[in-house]
Amino acid sequence: MKFFVDTANLAQIKEAHDLGILDGVTTNPSLMAKEGIKGEAAINQHYKTICEMVNGDISAEVLSTDFESIIKEGQQLAALHPNIVVKVPMIKDGIKAIKWFTDHKIRTNCTLIFSAGQAILAAKAGATYVSPFIGRIDDSSWDGMELIAQMRQIFDVQGYSTEILAASIRSGLHIVKAAELGADVCTCPLDSILALLKHPLTDIGLAKFLEDAKKM
Ligand code: E4P
Repeated sequence: MKFFVDTANLAQIKEAHDLGILDGVTTNPSLMAKEGIKGEAAINQHYKTICEMVNGDISAEVLSTDFESIIKEGQQLAALHPNIVVKVPMIKDGIKAIKWFTDHKIRTNCTLIFSAGQAILAAKAGATYVSPFIGRIDDSSWDGMELIAQMRQIFDVQGYSTEILAASIRSGLHIVKAAELGADVCTCPLDSILALLKHPLTDIGLAKFLEDAKKM
């Protein structure tokens, strides 16, 4: 399973990259706004900076919701860097646009996926990635991981090459379950990646080894 970091914060991207396990970055308008990135020039520059920091797929989300505008915006985003993946919302014009991008060799990430039916449509349109929002499904008292399992089964049975990108991750456990169920990618806040490092017995064991090392 590939690891993407789900943030537009450059310090967090650097920290994840320095771990040596980072395969890419996802952003969305909320994450960009959180970093105070405003205006087309600043947004484009921020994407370029991220692309220079991480040699992997970088999702950049369109803000348009009609077919013509999504195409225009997606082409501009894709032209910023070869590693840009155009992130398109799961709406009717979004699916049409994903098919157009597929036909024109522009890679896409279909975002805001909450059902297997939506995932099938995105895969049929040729999306490179589909992003089921695990945490937001859990927040609504459904089981987000059930969607990952269902998508894995459907994509395998149907032979879809679209990658399942588990998104809206809230914890280290989400990452472990996504890996167990066969997600191709997990995009995670830095905290959730770092949570994987932790186990109290590791801390206790290391403290004892270091104490005993003094007697060596
Ligand atoms: C990633 O592509 C999504 O935009 C992101 O994971 C959403 O996460 P959230 O539900 O924590 O906002």
